Amino acid sequence: MSDTTPTLPSTGGATQPRSAFNNWISAIGAVVAGGGLFSFLFLAWMDLTGKGNNPYLGIFTYIVAPAFMIVGLGCFFFGAWAQRRWEERHVSAPDRWRLDFSNPTQRRRLVLFGIGAVGFLVLSAFGSYQTYHVAESNAFCGEVCHTAMNPEYVTYQRGAHARVDCVDCHIGSGAVWFVKAKLSGVRQLIAYTITDYNRPIETPLHNLRPAQDICEKCHWPEKFHGNIEINYEHFLSDEENTPYTARMLMHVNTDKPGQKGGGGIHWHVNEFEKVEYYATDEDRQEIPWMRVTNLKDNTTKVFRTEEFEGEPPSDQIRVMDCMDCHNRPAHTFPTANDMVEKSMAAGKLTRGLPYIKRHAVAAMTQEAITVDEEAPALIEAYLREKYPQPEYAALLPAAIAEVQAVFAQSIFPFRQADWRVYPNNIGHKDWQGCFRCHDGMHQTETGETVSHSDCSSCHSILAQGTGAQLDMLSARGLEFDHPGGELDDVLTCADCHNGMNQ
Ligand code: HEC
Ligand code: HEC
Ligand code: HEC
Ligand code: HEC
Ligand code: HEC
Ligand code: HEC
Repeated sequence: MSDTTPTLPSTGGATQPRSAFNNWISAIGAVVAGGGLFSFLFLAWMDLTGKGNNPYLGIFTYIVAPAFMIVGLGCFFFGAWAQRRWEERHVSAPDRWRLDFSNPTQRRRLVLFGIGAVGFLVLSAFGSYQTYHVAESNAFCGEVCHTAMNPEYVTYQRGAHARVDCVDCHIGSGAVWFVKAKLSGVRQLIAYTITDYNRPIETPLHNLRPAQDICEKCHWPEKFHGNIEINYEHFLSDEENTPYTARMLMHVNTDKPGQKGGGGIHWHVNEFEKVEYYATDEDRQEIPWMRVTNLKDNTTKVFRTEEFEGEPPSDQIRVMDCMDCHNRPAHTFPTANDMVEKSMAAGKLTRGLPYIKRHAVAAMTQEAITVDEEAPALIEAYLREKYPQPEYAALLPAAIAEVQAVFAQSIFPFRQADWRVYPNNIGHKDWQGCFRCHDGMHQTETGETVSHSDCSSCHSILAQGTGAQLDMLSARGLEFDHPGGELDDVLTCADCHNGMNQ
């Protein structure tokens, strides 16, 4: 495709047959394509040497830079095609678009063009380097995809992993995961640009690496945590907003007879056991079948619910890992109830307004709130209506502002992201969590139920109540004194506690 119709009469000073690519449009195209190629090579090199461990860098490497190349090449060939058409139609002046070094005006233009082209190449080099830096940052994950990732970014900043980069959990070493993450990053960005991503973004995520590769890079399971004490601070929905705290000792690792560790809550992930399960729903909330394998002697035990017959599809059996309990390690979406209680415990939301706990939760969960921007006004209107009395006028504005703030940190109507969509499996109060399996409903063929399903096997209650009651510690553990009245055996906690009313 090098030269053109040499039969044309040559005019305008040109004496030799010339290439159709000798024209301005093709020249500009060549420069753009060159810039694109350069950026592509540079970014691909950064990418493949593992310095750019970010799926979104892939967007620039494999989409934006090649797009420049394609547009440039397009111009390049279009210029040649247009040049030929021009020659055919304007036999008398075929060289209108030609780059002609012998023409002084053109020479000046060519010099300018040359400078422009060099500038463009330098800029594209600089631009791709900047792109690489920006794409790697957490701010990029969280902020550039503002509306899409905002819920995760906001909740992440309040969590224990706020200093762990998004990319440390979401992608990492290993060629296969690298490609997977790259492709899913590209797919997500395209989907996002045409606002076609799922709302809510569906979980569980299937393209995460196995927990061993992520979490165990920093937390090794052999590490003996022992018992961990946690205070759960609540406020009742009564007029006084009475505080209620449960001070609990979680039996994370306990000793097994004759060995240090191996038992307790982290038993599921110890090196001698394999727990597998089958969930019938996408969210992994309904678990009718599980199998425990003792890796030392290879004995297995299968537990199943009475209703579940047959065998689970073998490709849908999942080996339990960290993320089956810690499924919200970095971006927890606390319930409205939790958020209000945390704010009250921190002294930010006043307890001076009667029933403020109840009303604050109700204000946050009004059905009328469907758009992020409307939430503040609706929350304000709701609370103003509940406290019209002049004696509350002094406390009200700060309370309204705090409820609005708490809302903005935990409920994201636009993305439909909040606790109702993203269950947290670590406990059992607001979601089934541990009770998905430890509910006494799963049995082996011999009628053995899942052990450790009574109230004191996973934790002991050291103290509970309010004020002086919390000073009376019981090392042996107390019976749970449920603030909502006597518990019966039929209902699980999450049947009543849904994060809203209680
Ligand atoms: C400590 C590890 C960790 C870090 C750090 C982390 N994530 Fe995640 N992320 C996860 C896990 C685990 C899931 C999967 C939850 C599931 O499958 O139920 C997830 C899920 C998500 C989801 C799917 C929707 C959802 O809320 O479950 C998005 C979006 C997301 N992460 C974005 C981010 C962004 C943006 C950052 C950085 C600002 C980040 N993540 C940092 C572990 C992490
Ligand atoms: C890059 C290192 C790193 C990775 C990867 C990581 N973590 Fe962490 N994690 C930390 C650090 C550091 C802390 C302690 C933060 C603190 O003390 O405030 C922490 C704290 C925790 C805690 C206790 C604090 C809390 O309230 O949540 C849990 C549980 C936890 N990580 C689970 C996980 C799980 C599950 C994963 C895998 C999805 C994971 N981590 C991946 C570094 C990491
Ligand atoms: C059976 C559910 C379950 C599994 C599986 C599990 N954990 Fe935990 N883990 C817990 C519970 C419950 C606690 C106690 C803290 C709490 O209740 O929030 C805990 C505590 C922790 C802590 C200590 C937090 C602190 O405050 O010091 C870390 C770190 C941790 N887990 C990491 C892991 C890692 C890494 C894995 C996978 C190898 C894992 N866990 C598997 C349920 C689990
Ligand atoms: C997928 C099902 C499943 C889930 C979810 C689950 N467990 Fe288990 N857990 C089991 C099975 C099965 C056993 C072994 C029971 C047996 O052998 O009788 C077990 C055993 C235990 C044990 C006894 C370990 C020992 O020392 O022998 C504790 C403690 C425990 N689980 C706590 C928890 C906690 C806390 C949670 C929630 C954070 C939880 N489990 C979630 C299936 C599950
Ligand atoms: C299979 C293990 C397991 C069993 C059995 C179990 N719990 Fe729990 N429980 C947990 C875990 C894990 C948490 C911590 C949740 C968290 O960290 O958010 C918890 C938390 C709690 C809390 C504090 C929740 C809060 O938000 O204040 C109470 C109260 C409680 N359990 C009571 C009970 C009672 C009563 C029973 C018996 C009916 C029981 N638990 C049985 C694992 C268990
Ligand atoms: C029959 C419904 C019901 C069941 C089942 C139930 N609760 Fe409650 N719970 C209530 C009510 C009602 C209150 C009082 C709410 C209030 O005043 O804010 C309450 C209050 C609480 C509180 C303190 C206030 C709060 O908002 O958190 C805790 C903690 C609690 N329950 C834990 C549990 C646990 C753990 C279980 C399961 C072992 C459980 N509940 C089962 C109805 C129930």
